[in-house]
Amino acid sequence: MFDLSGRTALVTGAGQNIGAGIARGLAGQGAHVVVNDYFLERADEVAAEISRAGGSASPAAFDVTDLDAVTEAVAGIGVVDILVNNAGLAGPTGLKAEQFRDMDPADWRSAVDVNLYGVMNCCHAVLDGMCERGWGRLITISSAAGTHGVNIGVAPYSAGKGGGLAFTRSLALEVARSGVTANTLALGLFERKNHQITEQFARAIPAGRTGWPEDVAAACVWLASEEAAWVTAQTIGINGGSLTS
Ligand SMILES: NC(=O)c1ccc[n+]([C@@H]2O[C@H](COP(=O)([O-])OP(=O)(O)OC[C@H]3O[C@@H](n4cnc5c(N)ncnc54)[C@H](O)[C@@H]3O)[C@@H](O)[C@H]2O)c1
Repeated sequence: MFDLSGRTALVTGAGQNIGAGIARGLAGQGAHVVVNDYFLERADEVAAEISRAGGSASPAAFDVTDLDAVTEAVAGIGVVDILVNNAGLAGPTGLKAEQFRDMDPADWRSAVDVNLYGVMNCCHAVLDGMCERGWGRLITISSAAGTHGVNIGVAPYSAGKGGGLAFTRSLALEVARSGVTANTLALGLFERKNHQITEQFARAIPAGRTGWPEDVAAACVWLASEEAAWVTAQTIGINGGSLTS
């Protein structure tokens, strides 16, 4: 079940944390994984680690907000069967409770650029090939911030994440008869280096812990599989029960 042998997956922002976990998970099911990151050294490291573990992976450094760079990179890869839009940026404000009216407009733009335009650019680059071959899987990594807002201080991030989600769902309808599915995973809170924030928020999560990259990887493996062919235009919460509507 969920055998991805013979498939090529492109995972954006896979140089660390959640994206690296997704890359490992897809490679573990037999896919060749192209590990993208803005930083080449991160992509190199994750691709090498997957290869050392017996998987198949190659690095590809490009900026998902640059449509020309994305198009060129995808042309170089050739066939992309599975795209995971994971690259994301909370912006310099991160989880700081900086309110919208105090934020620098440049930060609004960067949050929307990567979290929305990055998704659109990557989908655009792979879509013709997927539709021509009659098979494809698009998976966008969004956030509870995109579905529910959730935190104070992340309004532009929420706009970008909500935009990526809405775009993916609408695109799913356009390509549903071409053998291409498009779904979104709306993530709750994942492990962070700042344990004070983690522990404080973790207490409020019904499952009693923050998320792990493996939680997202398992959902990506399923959505990328042949078995999930009739699952499209959906948004699935990966959040330990934090948000149920
Ligand atoms: N960590 C969380 O709690 C959480 C919660 C909800 C959603 N998410 C989403 O999950 C995804 C992964 O989160 P994470 O915590 O692993 O992030 P992270 O910041 O640890 O890693 C993101 C990676 O993406 C790369 N990247 C950023 N901008 C890029 C660009 N323009 N082009 C290519 N690569 C780029 C970065 O270099 C980095 O290696 C993001 O989309 C994020 O919004 C995370």
